Amino acid sequence: MALATIGVCYYPEHWPRERWSEQASTMRSGGIELVRIAEFAWSRIEPSPGHFDWEWLDEAVETLAAEDLKIIMCTPTACPPLWLVERFPEILPVDSSDQVLRFGSRRHYRFASQVYSDESIRISQAVIDRYGGHPAIVGWQLDNEYGCHETTLSYSEDDGRAFQRWLEQRHSNIDALNRAWGTVFWSQEYRSFAEVGRPNLTVTEANPAHQLDYWRFASEQVGKYNAKQRQLLAGSQGSDRWVTHNFMGNFIDFDHFDVGKDLDVATWDSYPLGFLDQGWFSEEEKLRYRRIGHPDWAAFHHDLYRAVGNGRFAVMEQQPGPVNWAESNAQPLDNAPAFWGMEAVAHGAEFVSYFRYQQLPRAQEQMHAALRLPTGEAAPAWTPVTRLAEELQNLEQNESLQAPIALLFDYPSCWAGAIQPHAPGMDTLQSALHYYSAARALGLDIDIVSAQSPLYGYELVIIPGTIIVDAAFAARAKAAGASCLIGARSGSRDEHCALPETLAPGPLQDVIPLRVLAVDSMRRGAMRSFRYGEQSFEASRWHESIASDLEPRIRCNDGAGLWYSQDNHHYINAHVSSEFLTVVMQEIFSHRDRAYRPLPEGLRIRRRGLLTFAFNFSPEVQRLEVRDAECVIGTRDLAQGEYAVWQSPRD
Ligand code: GAL
Repeated sequence: MALATIGVCYYPEHWPRERWSEQASTMRSGGIELVRIAEFAWSRIEPSPGHFDWEWLDEAVETLAAEDLKIIMCTPTACPPLWLVERFPEILPVDSSDQVLRFGSRRHYRFASQVYSDESIRISQAVIDRYGGHPAIVGWQLDNEYGCHETTLSYSEDDGRAFQRWLEQRHSNIDALNRAWGTVFWSQEYRSFAEVGRPNLTVTEANPAHQLDYWRFASEQVGKYNAKQRQLLAGSQGSDRWVTHNFMGNFIDFDHFDVGKDLDVATWDSYPLGFLDQGWFSEEEKLRYRRIGHPDWAAFHHDLYRAVGNGRFAVMEQQPGPVNWAESNAQPLDNAPAFWGMEAVAHGAEFVSYFRYQQLPRAQEQMHAALRLPTGEAAPAWTPVTRLAEELQNLEQNESLQAPIALLFDYPSCWAGAIQPHAPGMDTLQSALHYYSAARALGLDIDIVSAQSPLYGYELVIIPGTIIVDAAFAARAKAAGASCLIGARSGSRDEHCALPETLAPGPLQDVIPLRVLAVDSMRRGAMRSFRYGEQSFEASRWHESIASDLEPRIRCNDGAGLWYSQDNHHYINAHVSSEFLTVVMQEIFSHRDRAYRPLPEGLRIRRRGLLTFAFNFSPEVQRLEVRDAECVIGTRDLAQGEYAVWQSPRD
């Protein structure tokens, strides 16, 4: 059995039927085995209320099955058709300026709408009933990209009423809510739940606890929506196939771990160049990696979604060429589509599905590349992707082992950070990626964990500026027998977005005895320098004043503390470069009898069972410390965008 399979996203409804069988046989000839279909096809499946047209989709399914292609069938709820919107305009989302968003693109629904939930169940049930027994269907995808285009948080009056009911469940009475939110401040007190509004359109910043509860409420609506769809499959034919949802990159608007509870596999969209261009990376990084992507961005998401999928993940949409939605949409290096696919596999992906099979020469995504040109000819990505399919056939199944490092990721902390950012550049996801990069630069594998994940067996637990940390997690981290590395801002708020009674880092004071008395939020360009060994580094963005009996291990040049340690637990009280964090981790592992040296810039290593994968993101050729003869794929000299794989002997 191959290590992973190659798939493709395909839209038979975009093409004349006469072309379907040739498209299917071309897929097969390129080594593609999996095809995802129908996530946007509601208007074709049910052209008018209650009138279903299955004939075209039946034929598409049979055409694919005739080529022995396996199918991921999607429920089509990401795009309600016009007739449904006209019938039930109350399903439309309302943005934070109270504008109702209109029909004409996609994702035009509110998660809290009961009508939409019922309609989604009706159409999904119809799709499942129709295809649940078909042998070509191997998996189900529920909806697509929950919350994309900022649709998690909606502010309609109906959302507001649902929020009030939700608050009644969460807070025992209105006094408890007033206390938790601190509404005595600015005379915000409420006399009943019915008085609590939505936290938008306030004159200035709305109460942060109000915003955080609204975000939690909105996130739970996504979880509930997904859980209901999942339940449909429980009693239906087709319940023996796996169920997934397709998540996104850089996206924190709902708690993915919550949705992941009701999935068998998590899948996500990997668009390394689009997100490099759009993301917070420096101009220098954007130029250096413009045709291959940032060395850690996709890897971070692979590890995150492996956690969301409880150990199982795949890439549902892999970038094949230029996208259409960033400010600049670079042409990837020739080998990049294969490089990205192999990297996903190195992190444990069960399949990599490219978006999309064929470029459609009209509508919103006409400038988005595909594996085939609008004419049907091969696009530049075709050759590397078909070569990757062959390579995967020659690699044996290998399971990812537990990594030495656990890195905490927490969605409510991301929301708290977005609600009160307090300093430029202190984004919670970015901080997590920053610590992640530092560990990867030492060639270490990382498991991303949620606040509920077990921590036994790890050598290092990283809490990378996770704003809300509860006492249970702190106690488990302390008891895990691992070192803890805690970044600035960790444990700085409680579940109501308030400062902890004992001040930051709240419950983490049980792991390392110190308290944060004040924060210096630094404007861009401001910094404090410090030295470690022969090297100079800088602290920027955020620097905390600490009270502790511990003597800082490092001080800044102006005398302020920076790195505190006790019992091989560590606290860094500032935003520092990932190069410095690499030095810190090197030091931590040296106490555990491990010597790690930083990899050359842009080179990355990942292990999957007995296989080791190396990827070169840097423009310079990198030489690996293995012999050519040991490589099962590639050679030890890697140019930018090249990879090698080698296998350790079985014991
Ligand atoms: C994804 C989405 C696809 C397509 C793609 C373009 O976010 O699921 O339908 O829009 O982006 O890159």
